[in-house]
Amino acid sequence: MGDIAEETGGDGLDRELADLLEVERFPPPEEFREHALLKDAEVYERAAADPQAWWVEQAERLHWFSPWEQVLDDSNPPFYKWFTGGTLNVSYNCLDRHVEDGRGERVAFHWRGEDGEERDITYAELLADVQRFANALKDQGVGKGDVVGIYLPMIPEVVIAMLACARIGAPHNVVFGGFSAEAVRERMEFSEAKALITVDGAARKGQTAPVKQRVDEVMGDLDTLERIVVVRSKGLDCPMRQGRDVFYDEIVAAADPDCPAEPLDAEHPLYILYTSGSTAKPKGILHTTGGYLTGVAATHRYVFDLKPESDVYWCAADVGWVTGHSYIVYGPLCNGATSVMWEGAPDYPEKDIWWEIVERYGVTIFYCAPTAIRACIKWGAKWPEKHDLSSLRLLGSVGEPINPKAWLWYHKVIGGERCPIVDTWWQTETGAIMITPLPGITETKPGSATRPFPGVFAEVRDESTGEPISEGQGLLVLTRPWPSMLRTLYKEEERFVETYFKRFGPETYLVGDAARVDADGYIWVIGRIDDVVNVSGHRLSTAEVESAIVAHVDVAEAAVIGQHDEDTGQAIVAFVTLQGDLAGDEQTVEGIRETVATRIGKFARPRRIIWADDLPKTRSGKIMRRLLRDIAEGRTLGDVTTLRDPAVMGQLEGKVKEMQAEES
Ligand code: WT7
Repeated sequence: MGDIAEETGGDGLDRELADLLEVERFPPPEEFREHALLKDAEVYERAAADPQAWWVEQAERLHWFSPWEQVLDDSNPPFYKWFTGGTLNVSYNCLDRHVEDGRGERVAFHWRGEDGEERDITYAELLADVQRFANALKDQGVGKGDVVGIYLPMIPEVVIAMLACARIGAPHNVVFGGFSAEAVRERMEFSEAKALITVDGAARKGQTAPVKQRVDEVMGDLDTLERIVVVRSKGLDCPMRQGRDVFYDEIVAAADPDCPAEPLDAEHPLYILYTSGSTAKPKGILHTTGGYLTGVAATHRYVFDLKPESDVYWCAADVGWVTGHSYIVYGPLCNGATSVMWEGAPDYPEKDIWWEIVERYGVTIFYCAPTAIRACIKWGAKWPEKHDLSSLRLLGSVGEPINPKAWLWYHKVIGGERCPIVDTWWQTETGAIMITPLPGITETKPGSATRPFPGVFAEVRDESTGEPISEGQGLLVLTRPWPSMLRTLYKEEERFVETYFKRFGPETYLVGDAARVDADGYIWVIGRIDDVVNVSGHRLSTAEVESAIVAHVDVAEAAVIGQHDEDTGQAIVAFVTLQGDLAGDEQTVEGIRETVATRIGKFARPRRIIWADDLPKTRSGKIMRRLLRDIAEGRTLGDVTTLRDPAVMGQLEGKVKEMQAEES
């Protein structure tokens, strides 16, 4: 347990944590169970016996303008449809019905700016802002079915923009603020976005980063993009192009305040969200209206045991990822929750800012990623210990496997040993949480996401035979359709079928993760089986990073792998061959990292660059990343007999060892 002592900064927690490690199961705490929305395990059986009835029960909690004719249309798998014929509006469900039912004065968001500014936004205010902006979008020529890009930081306008799009049936395409302008351009191009909503500048740890200016540098020649709407957030001067660019505040001021929510078909597209796949081209995950909202609202309510009258909920993700879409915006607002929204980073102005916010607003439910927990462990328990965290009653984790030590630290230091932890497994594709404990029912084991949410069916399949495994390791699959599943890859239907439904046929969704199932049927997700890496919960494709690296003039070829990393889960390591007889130096390293930052975003920059005279390739020229991973992890090399030139490996192994020696 010496390493825990180190990780906790010598806070003297090591012995206590060691004791906790002995207890490998955590039943729901009695006080929690007593008041939980779900406390009877019978719910699992009920949903399994009749999943459609279970989902209908969840869908009935929403407001429908007109009822559906069919619950599930499974006549053409894998193209499933849910609640067909029904009409509803997501923004109506998130706003109007709360206001109409007398909850207009409830705070939807306690927004906190990086500089300490505070804004409480009620449901009634949010509804007014959304209606005006929805009308402003219409005034700008945006209509039902038009794709609208959103590239905004964590400011209230990002929520307003998403809901305004949902209100008029314009699918949004949000790009995470950490992506570069070039990545935004690419996503606007692929989705043929008609408008883009962005900002003058964004707060970054005490500085203001220019955003509109960067966007302008790359967006010039994209003629499908007719409008750019600029939110004036930081008072930064920015270029405006006549005839294309307008200011948010000006078009809102000119807009009509009343914009009734448009009844939309249950299968009307709600949004596209690009995520990384096996190739360099990102995949446009398409989510629709009725099934998606049913899935996110039900999971948000039951997984977080939400009591909207008394809870203060905080999902500390960015809206630019699916976690933010489902569990900052749509799930919480649909359930009438009061949430916290924080503009900044977890360590600015100080490393206790998260805990200061928890104390300040009396946060009761807190949801974040393991990588953030590991960072907190490193900074030390002294930061959370400065604050009263006794309001917390439930903790959540998402984005990557949580290692048992981080789980225990979270449980003890943040949760004061009284809060259940829900380790939630899901993906951009699944729209909503799929595998998770129910906090009032499920006994947890640190590191396991436990079992599927009621109405969800998961299995682990043997890699070679494809048969279900009752105990052991294999490929994770979902064996029945669920309401919030992706409907297709935008404009790439074949790729959709190929990626998820080729391996086991059109009725079995291939997740892309390896998992282990234990004797109790608990699922332990291990990680990706494809060329996708997970850096601090950010999903990246190795091919995407490789194609960014080779854009550097000096580079001939690159192979990228994810290497296990204590802090970030995985770190990007690039093996790079330079042009001709160029030799790599510090300047080339910086140049390559800069190229990746420009093409994708800073978070994709390689942690290490290893110069290679040649890369391990098969006789047909395919790079064998598996061998590079073996080298990087210091494992015995796998089969090298198929290599064109096996000598390459010895040379690379030497370089990696040299580098590791230098680093330690
Ligand atoms: C991939 C999906 C889910 C929203 C954030 C990420 C990994 C996610 C867990 C978890 C183990 C997890 C998987 C998955 N992952 N949650 N609780 N335990 N692994 O969404 O960017 O679509 O990434 O994240 O590998 O396939 P995403």
